[in-house]
Amino acid sequence: MKRSQVFSMGVLIVAALFFSAAPMAAPAWAAMPEAKIGIVFSMTGGAASYGATQKHGAQLAVDEINAAAGTKGVHIKAYFDDDASTPQQGINVFKKFINSDHVSAIIGPTLSDTAQVTDRIAQAGSVPVLGVSNTAQGITEIGNYVFRDSLTEAVVVPNTIRTAKKKFGISKVSILYGNDGAFTKAGYDAFKKALTDEKITILSEQTFAKGDRDFSPQLTEIKSQSPDAIVVSALVEEASGIVSQARQLGIPASVPIIGGNGFNSPSLIKNAGSAAEGVLIGAAWSSTASNPLNQKFVKDYAAKYGNPPDQFAAQAYAGVYIVYDAIQKAGAPFQPAKIRDALAGIKNLDSVLGKFSFTSGRDADYKPVLQEVKNGKFVVVGE
Ligand code: ALA
Repeated sequence: MKRSQVFSMGVLIVAALFFSAAPMAAPAWAAMPEAKIGIVFSMTGGAASYGATQKHGAQLAVDEINAAAGTKGVHIKAYFDDDASTPQQGINVFKKFINSDHVSAIIGPTLSDTAQVTDRIAQAGSVPVLGVSNTAQGITEIGNYVFRDSLTEAVVVPNTIRTAKKKFGISKVSILYGNDGAFTKAGYDAFKKALTDEKITILSEQTFAKGDRDFSPQLTEIKSQSPDAIVVSALVEEASGIVSQARQLGIPASVPIIGGNGFNSPSLIKNAGSAAEGVLIGAAWSSTASNPLNQKFVKDYAAKYGNPPDQFAAQAYAGVYIVYDAIQKAGAPFQPAKIRDALAGIKNLDSVLGKFSFTSGRDADYKPVLQEVKNGKFVVVGE
């Protein structure tokens, strides 16, 4: 056999192997309509404890959707990525999703600081983006392609303060907040307004910066003021330090610490241990909500991952179903503009967050709750 014949035969064998192996390796639904979505959370960096449960929630939803779609329905091809808790990496990922992966919709990123820049890229590229944990002001205002299923601090915090005042008779507080982040500043603004509206005296306002580890100067000052409660706007890393150090400095457990969405992570309880007992947190989801979808989610998530879900997981899980509803309504070839229009039209969609609708400003529209940490768990104590 000539050398060229050997070469051609080799090519044929390789090609035969490839084409015979490929259909066997691919799942049965691979030839069915498939919508590409980009899903980006903070898997590394300061917000990684949120990103871990967000990814689990989203993955569970994608797996369920693809299994339920069987061999005929619309499937999702999810591109998962890491924004590294920084705007710059968020920008890189959004550009990749839009320019290389050609996704029809994006879910994420984790932090409002990142969303403030990445969502402008989605808006400019006319690709819809759904935030599932961004709670600062000024996100959905970026444009008509920007949505979120996470309730803002401005919606959750007034309920937190009203309910905490009623249940715990709080009349004077000290505030501690991060003044260098979109989320922590939005939380501060919302707390200040709600405290003023409820005629609660603000004894002092102290600040810290992202990455700070020692909060004893601020907490010593706060201790000397004898507040009824300490109001904190912080992401979970700083929140854990503040809660632990407050108790170490002798601020008694009878002075509750009240937090916003940044506190809504099991990492707070893990990091602060018994100091986290009694912490009050405004929340947008409760594991004990009785709606059947929620109960199924809580059970399936725990079975798959060995831990109960948190609010970040629930909002990410709900986010995938919200985008999927719009994908189905838009239909193949899953044009981003059609998905955007379908998202804008969502009303009373059954979800783990309850009946889900967007406001006319593309924000989430449902009721917050107040939680307390009791025996190492988040427990709903008021609506
Ligand atoms: N809720 C936090 C934020 O918006 C995670 O940044």
